[in-house]
Amino acid sequence: MFTMNASLENIKNGINELDQFNSTKGQGTTRILFTDVELEAREYIKDKMKMNGLTVEEDAIGNIFGVLEGQDPKLPPIWSGSHIDTVKHAGKFDGMAGVIAALEAQRMIKEAGMKHKRTIKSVVFTSEEPTRFGLCCLGSRALAGELQRKDLREICDEDEESLEQVLERLGYDLNAFHLIKKSNHDVYASVELHIEQGAVLEQLGKPIGIVDAIAGPSNITVTIEGVQEHAGSTPMPIRVDALTAASEIVLKVEALAKGSSSEHTVGTVGFMEVYPNASNAIPGKVTFTIDLRDSDMAVKEEVLQELLSSFKEIESKRQVSIHYVVDNHDQPMHCDNHINSMIEKICLRKSIDYNRMISGAYHDSIFVGKFAPISMIFVPSQGGLSHNPNEWTDFEDIKLGTEILAESLLTLANE
Ligand code: GLV
Ligand code: MN
Ligand code: MN
Ligand code: MN
Repeated sequence: MFTMNASLENIKNGINELDQFNSTKGQGTTRILFTDVELEAREYIKDKMKMNGLTVEEDAIGNIFGVLEGQDPKLPPIWSGSHIDTVKHAGKFDGMAGVIAALEAQRMIKEAGMKHKRTIKSVVFTSEEPTRFGLCCLGSRALAGELQRKDLREICDEDEESLEQVLERLGYDLNAFHLIKKSNHDVYASVELHIEQGAVLEQLGKPIGIVDAIAGPSNITVTIEGVQEHAGSTPMPIRVDALTAASEIVLKVEALAKGSSSEHTVGTVGFMEVYPNASNAIPGKVTFTIDLRDSDMAVKEEVLQELLSSFKEIESKRQVSIHYVVDNHDQPMHCDNHINSMIEKICLRKSIDYNRMISGAYHDSIFVGKFAPISMIFVPSQGGLSHNPNEWTDFEDIKLGTEILAESLLTLANE
């Protein structure tokens, strides 16, 4: 049994120091992929890994690995990690808690001199958030082989710079891109610690969540074209207003998600651009995104089909044209029963109350789960808030989660 304590100070300092790399100080944390602050945060993590005596590896899409070598380095390793990029004006815990916890767990195992057969790697996955390129989980998607060299040219940011151009500019070797992909058995198991980002644990008064399944996201970009006309002189019956058509879709997303047969269906329109965006012009064009998630793929599929067929009805009813692209339609991922019962036993032995639960938020683990058994440990989010500057998790809760993580990694590393 592993009884070493995680250091509260290391966890607190790690999270607060990382938070210095922030392009919107005072207005939450913003750290967008491959911007100056994100590049500085990468260096901070690599330095920390080196200071902790780990070997640092980085692949062709910028996934960073901190290697704590096991007694038999030929055995498939154990992974633990998360992300350091954020949405705009976010908090300092989403992703970062999992990276700092993994580093602290490795330090605990190393300093306690605990023997482990398998290598334990901490991982920083490149861009879990879709903030810059509109597509989430870039690094873990590539590890699963679902983002390939040929795709990089098509994925562009707001300034029309492609992911290929950005990676080349930063000196990543794209000829080595094919080496990123992992196969089954390359990784023995992976456990990610993350803040819950919901209020279930807080409401139950339990400090730990053990995740059974992670919802998969579908993201759709929609453009509606109507007719841009004068707001004063165009009679109501002859208008072709792109925004009123878009509004029907926004409400349809809400109605379908609320009325679906799964309690875990959620649908959100969180981004919208109206053209020409003038108070006295009828909107001629609207672009918006739909974020649809479920832990049940069949239900999500049904909701998506129903949503897409409503586009046709709205088109003919309102005479607009609706174009859409399904940017991604990702599967939910089930966590591994063997890992979860092991985590459960650790909690029982330590007399820690836990809750088996579903993750509504997605994580890099949904892609890692395509080539390795995975699980996730959740720690409580105050008020359930996340993707918000007021996101908060008590450092004591992260410490407890880190101790369970460390023991889980050590157990797996000796299997
Ligand atoms: C990403 O963090 C998401 O779950 O939206
Ligand atoms: Mn997030
Ligand atoms: Mn996250
Ligand atoms: Mn997420």
